[in-house]
Amino acid sequence: MSDRLEDIAIKMVAEGKGILAADESTGTIKKRFDSIKVENTEENRRDYRELMFSADEAMKNYVSGVILFDETIRQKAKKGTPLVNLISAAGSVPGIKVDAGAQDLAGFPGEKVTEGLDGLRGRLKEYYGLGARFAKWRAVITIGEDGRPSWNCIHANAHALARYAALCQEQKIVPIVEPEVLMDGPDAKHGIDRCYDVTVWTLQTVFHELFVAGVKLEGMVLKPNMVVPGQHSGTTASGEEVAEKTVKALKATVPPAVPGIAFLSGGQSDEDATAHLSAMNAMYDLPWKLTFSYGRALQAAALKAWGGKAENVKAAQAAFTHRAKMNSLAAMGTWKRDLELKAA
Ligand code: 13P
Repeated sequence: MSDRLEDIAIKMVAEGKGILAADESTGTIKKRFDSIKVENTEENRRDYRELMFSADEAMKNYVSGVILFDETIRQKAKKGTPLVNLISAAGSVPGIKVDAGAQDLAGFPGEKVTEGLDGLRGRLKEYYGLGARFAKWRAVITIGEDGRPSWNCIHANAHALARYAALCQEQKIVPIVEPEVLMDGPDAKHGIDRCYDVTVWTLQTVFHELFVAGVKLEGMVLKPNMVVPGQHSGTTASGEEVAEKTVKALKATVPPAVPGIAFLSGGQSDEDATAHLSAMNAMYDLPWKLTFSYGRALQAAALKAWGGKAENVKAAQAAFTHRAKMNSLAAMGTWKRDLELKAA
């Protein structure tokens, strides 16, 4: 595989492929395992990740890259093959989450800033040696009725994203730049237009900071939220409205030099995340590839089908493959709802 940042970034958003976000921290995967009553042990985490990474059809045809957590990039499959090798053998690019999580932003209650810059250069060097060719850093922006987000929150997070991205590129690792305007949480009462305004404000600030930091846009991938109403807004938006407002926000802020945009699912249902992506690709001719980098919306069905039991591995792989295929079609704008019904 070419080592040029531009080539890796293009591979990450290859036609009809997207990214599997399997980088849940040990705490976050516990929440997922709790939902299926599975104990959060290292072995169970390994077995669960191994079942996805060895789902051949999905990995070879629909998954361009996999975001890993620190533990997973060092883990071996049951038979001893490093999990990273399963991913590369399928032609998919291994990546690594490098942020240290969102912490309270001092002086700004209810807001977070993502930490993890200290020592990052050294960690990137190590991850490169372990096979990672891209990285991820997630910033979270909360909308509230009490003046959130603040300029300080948006600026601090955008600045950290830019410092992270510059360090990644220095180490020949493609940065996934992920500023997430949250749709969920107890305060998410905002409507879709407020999400639009905050998304535009956030993305504009992020690209300004990336420019100041000298980040090469050709060698990065953007991972934004879609423009949707808050979970507790009491309103809904049609797929077309989500597609229209998301594309409008991206056109206003993301330079065409960026090769691709891979959305997070953010708490949307599996089918909404797929339908919205497909609508955008079907409705518009855009300068960037638009694809998926889903965590929950790619894994929820597989997790449920698995339930922690070895005898369910095949069923879980089938569920994962189905979602990956549906999202692959969405990345090409050709997904249809009746494809879901046939599979059900
Ligand atoms: P979701 O698709 O579940 O939002 O996760 C994507 C992700 O990587 C969040 O950082």
